[in-house]
Amino acid sequence: MVKTLQELTRPNIWRLKPYSSARDEYNGAAASVFLDANENPYNMPHNRYPDPMQRELKTELSKIKKVSPDSIFLGNGSDEAIDLVFRAFCEPRVDNVVAIDPTYGMYQVCADVNDVEYRKVLLDEDFQFSADKLLAAADEHTKLIFICSPNNPTGNDLLRSEIETLIRRFDGLVILDEAYNDFSEAPSFLENLNQYPNLIVLQTFSKAWGCAAIRLGMAFASPDIIGILSKIKYPYNVNQLTQKQAVEMLHRYYEIERWVKTLKEERENLEAEFAALPCTVKMFPSHANFFLARVTDAVKIYNYLVGKGIIVRNRNSVSLCGNCLRVTVGTRGENEKLIEALKEYM
Ligand SMILES: Cc1ncc(COP(=O)(O)O)c(C=O)c1O
Repeated sequence: MVKTLQELTRPNIWRLKPYSSARDEYNGAAASVFLDANENPYNMPHNRYPDPMQRELKTELSKIKKVSPDSIFLGNGSDEAIDLVFRAFCEPRVDNVVAIDPTYGMYQVCADVNDVEYRKVLLDEDFQFSADKLLAAADEHTKLIFICSPNNPTGNDLLRSEIETLIRRFDGLVILDEAYNDFSEAPSFLENLNQYPNLIVLQTFSKAWGCAAIRLGMAFASPDIIGILSKIKYPYNVNQLTQKQAVEMLHRYYEIERWVKTLKEERENLEAEFAALPCTVKMFPSHANFFLARVTDAVKIYNYLVGKGIIVRNRNSVSLCGNCLRVTVGTRGENEKLIEALKEYM
């Protein structure tokens, strides 16, 4: 990376003096009387503001992820981190971002909300990307490049060598979304975070961790990048109930490993059964907790399944995904219901 972080950051954000909350100004354990935050003294424990820097949660997380706490940002889902990188680094109507296509739809939504040009680069027919092509779409105003591995909705891991080339050659920040990495055999780029000062890795509690309801996303990057995101977030962006539940989940790490193992086995069974259906035209390889399949008529089959009370995702209108359904792996019973219904479809 040749540009400095200051050059990549919007000047108003670089200069910003962040809001200082009561819990920022005093966070020690010595006090027993808190009269500083205009809270209600009744209704313990919900009456107190949560820790704005989520210290306990970051300490526990850093043990499992093997990343220092000052390299961790926690947000209201990874969607919050996605929005914040636009707000921190992209000057509306001046800067642009580049992303693979198809991919997770929130990158474009956040670009549109922030009035930042979103440049899409089509994947090849194996749903792989080329670092050269992404870099060719970039110019001096490109601040961010978004890639997602395993990718949503295609389900496949992106090639590690291309990801490495992209990070090394791009003079801006690469956002690598690893929401589904727990289901993949590919090692996470977290292990290499120190090598890449321009890398932001996104992960989430919503998938393997089974905690979509608590809304907790993670961004991992250099302490300088994390410092910028922390400076512009809402002061109490991760509520107390979420912080508490996440710490409990981190203590049950073994259970998540069991869920992941079961879901990977179920994925294999479901893929084999789905591939054998008369309505299946093509299966795409998956390294996530879902797979993409081309069927004879995605709209008709989607509507047929809705009629049976079974909801999959119709991706027919997404680039390169004509007549494709995206199927999340469920429990054995749920997967069997899907297959039974599709066997009756013809
Ligand atoms: C690739 C990808 N990233 C991020 C998210 C959102 O994660 P969160 O629930 O943490 O906002 C999703 C949700 O489906 C996703 O598919």
